[in-house]
Amino acid sequence: MKLAVVSAVILVVVFAAWPVSAGGYGHKEEEDDDTKSWFPLDNLLSLNYYDKSCQNFEKIVDTKVREWTKTDPSLGPALLRLLFHDCGVTGCDASVLLDYEGSERRSPASKTLRGFELIDDIKSEMEKACPKLVSCADILAAASRSATYQLGGPYWPNAYGRRDSINSYARDAEKVPSGRRDITGLLETFQSYGLNVLDLVVLSGAHTIGKAYCGTIQSRLYNFNATQGTDPSIDPKFADYLRRKCRWASETVYLDVETPVVFDNQYYINLQKNMGVLTTDQELVKDPRTAPLVKAFAEQPAQMFRHQFAVSMAKLVNVGVITAEDRTGEIRRVCSKSNSRPY
Ligand code: HEM
Ligand SMILES: *[C@@H]1O[C@H](CO)[C@@H](O)[C@H](O)[C@H]1NC(C)=O
Repeated sequence: MKLAVVSAVILVVVFAAWPVSAGGYGHKEEEDDDTKSWFPLDNLLSLNYYDKSCQNFEKIVDTKVREWTKTDPSLGPALLRLLFHDCGVTGCDASVLLDYEGSERRSPASKTLRGFELIDDIKSEMEKACPKLVSCADILAAASRSATYQLGGPYWPNAYGRRDSINSYARDAEKVPSGRRDITGLLETFQSYGLNVLDLVVLSGAHTIGKAYCGTIQSRLYNFNATQGTDPSIDPKFADYLRRKCRWASETVYLDVETPVVFDNQYYINLQKNMGVLTTDQELVKDPRTAPLVKAFAEQPAQMFRHQFAVSMAKLVNVGVITAEDRTGEIRRVCSKSNSRPY
């Protein structure tokens, strides 16, 4: 009975989000206040943007991603995270790739981001095939999807035509949620992207793959607060496991310890067993706004999560993009440097 109620709740939410995400432009709905904001009219990317100008765009990206992840499979999850850190700060404009004193990439919040060399390699290949035509923001969006798909994750429609930002600021990097925000903070951040509570819960499911540094969760294990060493919301056995795995801050643990390299709904099942690795993961089952969604994704077949993940990703990759209309962006020639800056 309980299950039926939860399923009903999630189906309503999913269907409410679906027409807009699927491209049902102009749909009138009661609950679309927050979906309107991610679809402003100046944000017009196109699904066939490179069809004429750079036909092999996605093929080049796929090949490079395959090459690099074959040597280092951990780059797949790293790319997905890199895209989140791009889109989550001033929109999907490749601002996270700029590399100079005071840029986002140099902020402590970006310290464990990886995958930059792969993006640079794709870009230099792209400059040979289609010089000055393909933005770094588009490359990052394409590479991230390619990596996710290649490791068995779902596929989402990627529209292109993004321009790259000219600037990036280290202080902005803190806008991307760290592992210690509360749910209200996370919801506010996602709302500022034009994303809703369902998107938050679904996209957090990216943590079904990839790793965290032990340094990131140290305080959960050893000095939670003045009186309590370990965060009481961690299952005690799991806390023991994490402590064994985490002797050094520089070591890593899988975010989904049960099926770390499978893009499934195990992450949500773990959360229900108090086996979330990050505070923000575990909070999702404690907060009444997110708990029913976690429960539904844990109990429904994995395909339900995978499908909704694709829908929410298609929204994320549209957040705050700069297009040719805006005239404030450029197509960088090198992803770590703005064309109009000497450094
Ligand atoms: C909801 C808020 C989120 C928070 C607070 C958060 C936080 C984190 C943290 C702290 C780590 C570990 C980093 C480290 O220790 O170095 C991590 C890893 C990761 N995150 Fe998130 N994240 C969030 C949402 C997302 C989203 C939306 C995505 C993608 C759609 C994502 C994808 C990933 C991936 C794939 C990893 C593993 C990276 C790797 O293995 O290199 N995260 N996240
Ligand atoms: C520490 O956390 C525990 C468990 O959440 C709580 O009961 C206790 O009051 C906290 N102590 C302090 C000093 O905040």
